[in-house]
Amino acid sequence: MTLIAVLPGDGIGPEVTEQAVRVLKTVCGDRLTYETGLVGGAAYKAKGHPLPPETLDLAKRADAILFGAVGDFDCDSLERHLRPEQAILGLRKALTLFANLRPAKLFPELADASALRPEVAKAIDLVIVRELNGDVYFGEKGMRKTADGLREGYDIMSYNEAEVARIARSGFETARARRRKLCSVDKANVLETSQLWRDVVIEVSADYPDVALSHMYVDNAAMQLVRDPGQFDVIVTGNLFGDILSDQASMCAGSIGMLPSASLDAKGKGLYEPIHGSAPDIAGQGKANPLAMILSAAMMLRYSLGLTAEADRIEAAVARALASGVRSPDLGGSTSTQAMADAVLVAL
Ligand code: NAD
Ligand code: IPM
Ligand code: MN
Repeated sequence: MTLIAVLPGDGIGPEVTEQAVRVLKTVCGDRLTYETGLVGGAAYKAKGHPLPPETLDLAKRADAILFGAVGDFDCDSLERHLRPEQAILGLRKALTLFANLRPAKLFPELADASALRPEVAKAIDLVIVRELNGDVYFGEKGMRKTADGLREGYDIMSYNEAEVARIARSGFETARARRRKLCSVDKANVLETSQLWRDVVIEVSADYPDVALSHMYVDNAAMQLVRDPGQFDVIVTGNLFGDILSDQASMCAGSIGMLPSASLDAKGKGLYEPIHGSAPDIAGQGKANPLAMILSAAMMLRYSLGLTAEADRIEAAVARALASGVRSPDLGGSTSTQAMADAVLVAL
């Protein structure tokens, strides 16, 4: 029996997770079993830790993990290791989920929802391959005093060559399965971390002569993403740059409420989550768009469970639901979270 760890988390996390599970149950029937665990602020409040040992154990036992979102303003002044965000960072690290695939594609029905002009937006069809286990996220960090007695915060950025080579291969493999264009995004004009990144990506490229490799500085990449997103096929980049560029790409594709993601280990085990957070500003109001979460569930079926036809069915149903006219507030309408998922279920 295939076990799915369901980790709803905080804010809109539980609201969108509930809808994704409804869709999964409809498509997969009793082929999947579900076990729910506490994460984030919800886990801290109930158990005193954002990633309690029983949740980590569940994530390790499960065949795949469906993750909502974490983040709760009540917890923002806790010591960092107790904050909700440590749950997702801890899972990524503990399970060595180093390759984060964030596809951004415009559903044609949403051309008007994009922040870009429709003729520019409609060309977007890219995947950001974001490294998840290293970078400034996981380096030494702290608060100290300067010699002048000023408070100083610091976070050390680093990548070693094995970490870069591993994610570079994910980037090349992803590109190989698509249009065979890989753009490596870095800041090699300023950062030593990025210089090593660029050198190693070039070394790895020797094994992928069929993929056209280019390099771009991250500031230019941010500009090019809104100028002409159609130029990109696959972008491979570090943890911090990938975090920022994927939120930006989401708005080119209509809304942050539309972008799913897969975080994979070397064997294809994965955690699936929307790229958005717990959205405290709209939590509890039925306003969250559940489609990013539903599309994340489809990615789970495709990448970790080999249920390709079922994944195709969900993605096609999302397109039909949008064609039927439903629009949550982030897409310019007033359809509720539940009604958005209802439309997907009808389209199935
Ligand atoms: P956010 O992604 O939660 O929200 C940004 C904006 O987008 C908000 O206006 C929100 O209402 C909107 N939005 C997000 N998802 C939406 C959806 N599905 N439908 C409609 N609108 C949506 O980012 P934030 O406000 O910067 O962060 C809020 C909290 O979430 C913080 O605690 C942050 O640390 C956390 N966070 C968690 C994750 C995660 O769990 N992986 C990701 C990002 C942020
Ligand atoms: C994301 C989020 C996380 C990140 C936070 C919540 C730790 O922004 O998944 O994009 O920065 O990776
Ligand atoms: Mn983010």
